[in-house]
Amino acid sequence: MAQQIALGVDIGTSHTKLVAGYVDSSDTLNVIAHVSGPSEGVKKGSIANLEAASECVSVVLDEFKRQCEVRPDICLSSIDGTSIKSTNGSGSVAIEGSGLVSETDVRRAIDASAALTLKSSDAVLHLIPRAFTLDDYSGIESPLGMIGSRLSVDTHIMIVSQAAASSRVRAFDRARLRVAGLVAHGIASAEGVLGNDERDLGVCLVDIGAGTTNLVVYKGSGIVHSSTIALGGANITNDLAIGLGIHFSAAEKLKITLSDLSRFDNADQEMFADIDLARSLSDADLSHVGDIVKARLSEIFELIVSDLRDAGVHRHIPAGLVITGGTANIVGLAQFASEVTGYRCTCATPRRVLRSVNVSAKPEYSSAAGLVRIAFSDKALSTVREIDTTQPRGLARRARSVVRRLLS
Ligand SMILES: Nc1ncnc2c1ncn2[C@@H]1O[C@H](COP(=O)(O)OP(=O)(O)O)[C@@H](O)[C@H]1O
Ligand SMILES: [Mg+2]
Repeated sequence: MAQQIALGVDIGTSHTKLVAGYVDSSDTLNVIAHVSGPSEGVKKGSIANLEAASECVSVVLDEFKRQCEVRPDICLSSIDGTSIKSTNGSGSVAIEGSGLVSETDVRRAIDASAALTLKSSDAVLHLIPRAFTLDDYSGIESPLGMIGSRLSVDTHIMIVSQAAASSRVRAFDRARLRVAGLVAHGIASAEGVLGNDERDLGVCLVDIGAGTTNLVVYKGSGIVHSSTIALGGANITNDLAIGLGIHFSAAEKLKITLSDLSRFDNADQEMFADIDLARSLSDADLSHVGDIVKARLSEIFELIVSDLRDAGVHRHIPAGLVITGGTANIVGLAQFASEVTGYRCTCATPRRVLRSVNVSAKPEYSSAAGLVRIAFSDKALSTVREIDTTQPRGLARRARSVVRRLLS
């Protein structure tokens, strides 16, 4: 049978990233193509101009088709956290029949945990089980096949606005690409970079993109907290533009050229091969660059710490912060983040990648790489819902059946 191929497409605030490939039996992500193109019509992770965003999908898709002639079997897309509300819930059901816990009982318990009063404009994006309890027996990861009379489950619930979800799907429809499911950006990145050991221990995934910073905290076998801070690398660029009196595009070029906290601190004109850029910067102005960059980064990491404290999970992450997303390209960031937050911090790129140095070395591909991984993981996929934008509450069905059909 021909190898099944999944596409992960991440429409970010600054770039649209596509990764195509498959995960083999040794848990390695085999990349057959990857593309990055500029995003248009996306503000702080949300689609603000459907036509423009759709055009960006078409551009990366055309490039993918140019690179390889493979027809993908499934496409998953990420959706940014600014349109997501997260909470924890719990559900409980009586076991039907003989008392043997079936897949249906598990599903009913999980669904019961989302018996929230949703606004008609909202839909459940993810319902992720954390731990099950069978009668008085707690801490169960999978209760299938066990015997009892009452099954309870604690879940992490992510709710998305219908408008945000459907505009994302429509952006793909217009580019003639059917997207089987949407995945919260932070979860996609976590799947792309985190191993199971870190998650079991307790870890916070931090994806710092251009417009947003997405957080997901894992502990034991599930997610205990997720949230989004509406700041990212574009705010650093903006501060540089304002502080140095230059255009955003020049400030972005300056930031990417230096891309290292110690070089930001010691910036001088000779570091820039681009004559126009060097001319527009005086050494006096450049002496502020390090302070400007560090002030914004400090703010982002301080907000992360207060978010973790507010959620009551700040003491539950011995594996610390794992930082990814394009801003994690900055050399020295992990050390800086450790100093600001007091946590152990590391920067991470997509894990166990074969055949693409460009994906394995670049943290901005974490989310798209994670989407491909999810398509090949029954467990991760069982939390992704199939999308039907023609139906009100159109996210209600799960993607699993579709994907099973395509991938088995
Ligand atoms: N080498 C680098 N040094 C500093 N910042 C970088 C570097 N490469 C990318 N970035 C920043 O990362 C952000 C883009 O990351 P990405 O994860 O693609 O964001 P998004 O998903 O929001 O489009 C931009 O703000 C960009 O300036
Ligand atoms: Mg992103």
